[in-house]
Amino acid sequence: MSMTLDLTEQHLTYSFDRFPEYLDRLRSKLRIAVIHGGDKDRDGAVIYKTHNPRSTKTYERVARDIADALKNLGFEYVSIMADDMTLPQRLKDEGIHLAWLNTGGVQGYDPVCHTPAMLEMLGVPYVGHNPLNSSTLDNKHVFKRELQAFGIRTAPFMTWHPAQGILNPYTNPRFLTTFGHYQGAFVVKPVSGRASLNISVVDDVADLPDAVAEIHRVTRNTASIETYLSGREFCVSVCGYVTCQNGKLQKNPEPFAFSTIERVLEPEERIFTSMDRKAITENRMRLLGDEDIDISRALISLAKQVYWDFNLNALVRIDLRTDEAGKLYVLEANPKPDLKRPTGTETSLVVRGLQEHGMGYEDFILSLLVDRLDYLLTYHAPIVRHITALIA
Ligand SMILES: Nc1ncnc2c1ncn2[C@@H]1O[C@H](COP(=O)(O)OP(=O)(O)OP(=O)(O)O)[C@@H](O)[C@H]1O
Ligand SMILES: [Mg+2]
Repeated sequence: MSMTLDLTEQHLTYSFDRFPEYLDRLRSKLRIAVIHGGDKDRDGAVIYKTHNPRSTKTYERVARDIADALKNLGFEYVSIMADDMTLPQRLKDEGIHLAWLNTGGVQGYDPVCHTPAMLEMLGVPYVGHNPLNSSTLDNKHVFKRELQAFGIRTAPFMTWHPAQGILNPYTNPRFLTTFGHYQGAFVVKPVSGRASLNISVVDDVADLPDAVAEIHRVTRNTASIETYLSGREFCVSVCGYVTCQNGKLQKNPEPFAFSTIERVLEPEERIFTSMDRKAITENRMRLLGDEDIDISRALISLAKQVYWDFNLNALVRIDLRTDEAGKLYVLEANPKPDLKRPTGTETSLVVRGLQEHGMGYEDFILSLLVDRLDYLLTYHAPIVRHITALIA
């Protein structure tokens, strides 16, 4: 199937079927920057140093994996850049046509949306979520509110910030409407966070005010209180319509959902241990097989639904848990899931399941890149003329 679009000024009739030919041109011409999080302590990175409520990590190593894969795919100009106030000038100086976002931001509130917002302003297209989706996904309470609106199961929750005073779970009307007679356990977490940092299980309602205050002390951000789901834990990844499987580029009628995985918890492990403390190795993740085919199918279908409902156009990894009855609940969707290239001992929850779809790391990186280019050329061609000019 081919979507055609006549761009008379460029004399280009875009057709997905001609992508191999476009790639031949783009490999030598398209200048790509892979962007990782900047370091606010570096001289000239920011004007005033503040705080990152999300907990800082630069993701530079993974940016290198992505950049190396793009080079292995034949792209001649791939630069790695830090995300800070010097970024716009570097993009201009190096004549970058397209950015690849592998950053959670540098500092400040809603840091995941800062770089896409800046790129929107600069007119530089990117692989990654738009500012609104980045913010929605990275604010767990906002994402959960939308899940509720779509009727997708997620644990009941409420948020609390010290500006509202000290939480009194016995009298607070929101608490009572949300949780009713439920007495715990609860999970208390920062609304924006990563790698299970600063998340706690609170068994006794009486301990909630302290747990919430502690989140604010550490993260300077709002806390989410939700019911504790005591069952198994799963993840599923989903990205766009283009895949490169068994060496063949194709545009599928549905988003590509894959890597259905169980995050294996140890007997007393109530919260999956942070990857900052314990690497995610093969024995901590299990690719779902035939014995879990029903769960796997449910995860795939849910992932596609989330992609559609939220109008996503970049990769997410969705984390889920079951309750004691085995029903699936969405915990969160990660807007910048780990894309580490697998080594002998470590892998990532996204990349782990690619092999069963005939994809290696490079095939996956090419899929994400071509999906974004296809999207831009199909729906945004008049506003990415610097790219259409490269393939006309
Ligand atoms: N409502 C809940 N019930 C049970 N466990 C939960 C709940 N919410 C979070 N957890 C546990 O805490 C872990 C981290 O939570 P969540 O995925 O929301 O945050 P995160 O820090 O962004 O995670 P990630 O490690 O994926 O970046 C989950 O993997 C799960 O083990
Ligand atoms: Mg998670």
